[in-house]
Amino acid sequence: MWKPDRNSKKTLYEQIADYLEQRISYGEFPPGSLLPPERKLAEQFDVNRSTVIAAFAELRSMGIIESRIGSGTRVSTSKWGATPKHTPNWSRFAEGGSFLPNLPFLRRIREALTHNPTLIDFASGELSADLAPTNEIAVLMGKNAYTSYLGYVNPQGATPLREALVDYLNNYRGIRTTESSILITSGSQQSLFLITQCLLSPGDAVAIEDPSYCYSLPMFQSAGLRLFRLPVDKHGVQPEDIRTLYKKHRIKMVFLNPNYQNPTGALLSEERRKRLLDIISELGLPVVEDDPYSLTSYDGIPPLSLKSMDTTGSVLYIGSFSKIAASGLRIGWMVAPRSIVERLADARQQMDFGLSIIPQQVAGQFLQSDYFGPHLERLRIQLQFKRDLLIESLEKELSGLIEYVVPAGGIHFWCKLIPSIPDGILLEESIKKGIVMVPGSVYGSDSGYVRFTFARAKSEEIALGISRFAEALRGLIE
Ligand SMILES: Cc1ncc(COP(=O)(O)O)c(C=O)c1O
Repeated sequence: MWKPDRNSKKTLYEQIADYLEQRISYGEFPPGSLLPPERKLAEQFDVNRSTVIAAFAELRSMGIIESRIGSGTRVSTSKWGATPKHTPNWSRFAEGGSFLPNLPFLRRIREALTHNPTLIDFASGELSADLAPTNEIAVLMGKNAYTSYLGYVNPQGATPLREALVDYLNNYRGIRTTESSILITSGSQQSLFLITQCLLSPGDAVAIEDPSYCYSLPMFQSAGLRLFRLPVDKHGVQPEDIRTLYKKHRIKMVFLNPNYQNPTGALLSEERRKRLLDIISELGLPVVEDDPYSLTSYDGIPPLSLKSMDTTGSVLYIGSFSKIAASGLRIGWMVAPRSIVERLADARQQMDFGLSIIPQQVAGQFLQSDYFGPHLERLRIQLQFKRDLLIESLEKELSGLIEYVVPAGGIHFWCKLIPSIPDGILLEESIKKGIVMVPGSVYGSDSGYVRFTFARAKSEEIALGISRFAEALRGLIE
C-alpha cells in the first residue's frame, strides 16, 4: 500500500495530490467516479484528515476533482472527460456477469487486513510463516535447475506431481489410484469451482454441511445451485439426513468436509462414515470429500478417508497443499473417475491453460523428499500447541461466556458466544481493538458463533489477540 514518504522534500499533501492525480490519469478513477472519503484516505495514507483535505483542495484548484456538499468528491468530467459521453460505465460492468461478489463480512475482513497489517489475524485459514516449510521449499527450488521444458503442461497437471500424489494418497490417505485419475487444480477451491460449474446445472439441488465452508462461497449460488443443509454435530453430519433430503428435494450431490471440518473442527465418526457410504451407494448419489485438514490430526493418526472406504466409486476426493504446507503455491488435487477428470481438465484448459509448472515441480519434489514426514510431525505438534494456547487464553478471558468442543486436528476453533451480540457489531468492535476473526453467520450458522483460526497468528500473538477480543466482547455486553 502506497504511503507518502515522510523524509521527502515534498510536503505530504503534495505527494498525496500527485499520487491521486496519477491514479486518476491511469483511469483507476474514471471521470465522474467518486473518490474514497477523506477519512478513509487519511487512514490509508496514515496522515491527518486535514492533509487529505489540503490535497483535495490542490486537485480542486487544478480542476481535476469536484466536490459537492453531501455527495462527496468526484473526478471532474470536464477536465478529464474530453469526451465524457464515451467513457464506459465501469461500475455497471463491475456489477454485471453471473459471478457473485464475496460475502460482505469477508470483504470487510480482507479490507481491514490490507489497511492494517498489524491486526492479529484469527480469520485467515492458513499457516503462519513459521509453520510452513519455507526453508525446505527454498532448498528444493535452489536444487531445481529447471531443466524441464517450460511449455504448456498436460491439462491434467504435471505428470511427476501426479505420480508423487499416487504414492502420497496411498501412503497417507489409504487411497489407491493412478495418475490418470488425478487432476491438479489451483488449490481445492478450483476443484470445487469446476465441480459446481461443469458437473452440475443451474437449479440442481445439493446438500452441504451446516455450518460449512461452502456457505462462505457465493460460488455455489453463482452456479445457480439450490443448497440444502445437513446439520453438523460434534461427530459430523447424520447420514440419515442425506436420505431425507434426497427424498424431499432430489439432491444431486453431497459436499462434505469430514475431517476437522471448517469451521467446527468436527470429525465424522467412523460409524457414521460407514452408514453414509451405505446410504449414498444405495441412492447412487455422488459425494465430494473435501479433505484439506486430515494430516493435521494431532495424535498423528489421520482419520480414514471416505474415498479409501468407497467400494462403489461414489466419492470425488479433493485434497490440497494449502493447510499442510503452503497455501501460496496453489496446489490442489482431485481424484475422480477418468471421464470426470477428462471433462474437468478440458474445462480448466479453456479457463487458464493449467497451473504454472514451477509450483507443481516443487510440490511433487517436496512430497517425495525426506523433508515431508518430519515437516508434518512438526506441524502437528505446533498446531496443537497453538490450539492449547488459544483455549488457555479463552478460558482466562472469557470463561462462562463461551462454549466449544475441543478439535482434535485442523486449524479452526468454533466458539458459541453465550451473550447475544449482532455479528457485524462484534466484528467492527474487534477490528477497532486490533484483531479479526470470522463471524459464524459467514458459514451459514445463526449469529452468536465465532470462528477463530489459530494457525495464522504467531504463538506470541494468541493471548494478546484473545484479550483484545474479550475487551471488545465485554465492552458490548456492558
Ligand atoms: C474445507 C475447505 N475446502 C477448500 C478450501 C480452499 O483451500 P485451497 O484452495 O487453498 O486449497 C478451504 C480453505 O479454507 C477449506 O477450508
